[in-house]
Amino acid sequence: MNQSRENWGSRMGFIMAAAGSAVGLGNIWRFPYMAGANGGSAFILIYLVFVFIIGLSVMIAEFAVGRRTSLAAVGAYKHYSKRWTFAGVLGVVSAFFIMGFYPVVGGWALAYVFKSLTGLLSNAGAIGDTFGAFITNPMEPLVWMIIFLLMNVVIVAKGISGGIEKAGKVLMPTLFVLLILIAVRSVTLPGASAGLAFLFQPDFSEVTGQTFLAALGQAFFSLSLGMGCMITYGSYLSKEEKLPNNALIVTALDTGVALLAGIAIFPALFAFGMEPAAGPGLVFVVVPSIFAQMGGIGTLFAAIFFVALTVAALTSSVSLMEVVAAYLIDQKQMDRKKAVYSTGFIMVITGILSSLSLGVMSGFTILGVGVFDFFDILTDKIFLAIGGMLLAIFVGWVVKKEDLRDELTNGGAVPFGLFDIWYNVVKYVIPLAVAVVAVLGILDIAQTGLMLFGLAVILVLGIFSHKL
Ligand code: PFF
Repeated sequence: MNQSRENWGSRMGFIMAAAGSAVGLGNIWRFPYMAGANGGSAFILIYLVFVFIIGLSVMIAEFAVGRRTSLAAVGAYKHYSKRWTFAGVLGVVSAFFIMGFYPVVGGWALAYVFKSLTGLLSNAGAIGDTFGAFITNPMEPLVWMIIFLLMNVVIVAKGISGGIEKAGKVLMPTLFVLLILIAVRSVTLPGASAGLAFLFQPDFSEVTGQTFLAALGQAFFSLSLGMGCMITYGSYLSKEEKLPNNALIVTALDTGVALLAGIAIFPALFAFGMEPAAGPGLVFVVVPSIFAQMGGIGTLFAAIFFVALTVAALTSSVSLMEVVAAYLIDQKQMDRKKAVYSTGFIMVITGILSSLSLGVMSGFTILGVGVFDFFDILTDKIFLAIGGMLLAIFVGWVVKKEDLRDELTNGGAVPFGLFDIWYNVVKYVIPLAVAVVAVLGILDIAQTGLMLFGLAVILVLGIFSHKL
């Protein structure tokens, strides 16, 4: 369709980039503290069910739509139906909102590379306080956040195979090796078994509607779904690739890293007598504490861990920035560089507000929450889930079944009726399941005003869809 469109350099490059998008702060920073705050094992079990039934099917659907149309999110929806443009735009809004807080945490990871090397580990007892003081500081985290964003701008401005693909190929495997190392150290600490029990012995007594919504939101967030990111990445994919296989590999890698992060963190957390519901500081406190016990070599490992965390964050945030940039390039005919620079500029501003909301601006709230939480909760608890549901409805009810069969099977035969199973899951099960989880979760959540605001935004986008 579009002859001059960029493409991935190789199959490995695509998988690494898609896995790079999926594996990020969501797995290593957020998954452990979400699990911690939502009761551990029961949350994880629900999460896994959502990942492999809903997440995997939605990922296949996103790849299929992207490759079929060779267009990024908005264009892909529009290609089939102008009325559906809003679902793509909702994705762009989501990407933009996630980038409202993601670079702040990416900046923390980057800062911790240097902090690890300059004495953070020498006073193990003060690691928690140091983190608190750092993120509430009005200047320091801003500088790191801006450096992190600049790295994004440079990579995304270079385009697909030259920038995004290369960064992922080297550092993702490094991250994997380091996490295994930390996990081994963590489970061999005295008192570690309580952490493994917390992770793997399901206790359903604390499960509420909230738990399901949190698990669903985390599944979409972690797999980079529900906002057109995988549509966009699929649009650069060659026709020879088998979509279901690639989706399965990406999903498995993503889940493996999240579980590994859990195994790395919880046993150590219990061994050190810390609180599982420690919140966003978890990885920044527990991991340095583990390494602090190892002497000099620990300093080096901690620094490498935070380099790898920064890269994991970077390969995800570039995909978020790419969603916004691709919209401007494909739909508004903007030149790539101009699209990236203007996107980056606005993200610096939202990032500053977000970072300050954890410290000096903590008194300023929107619908009851600070700026950081506003971006986080709105995307995680509502936009991505509704975005994923809209995609499933779109694929199930608007896109021609034969187009999908062609994309998924590459024209060949399908074993075990898998295509029809997938199709029915997408058409019926996912829309219904997400609707039920969303309703239960929203009824149960503390920030009802914010949720209603989110729904209103989606409604307004829908009404003005012809203008988008
Ligand atoms: N999947 C990323 C993570 O787990 O950190 C975050 C993310 C990237 C979400 C891209 C959504 C997205 F489109």
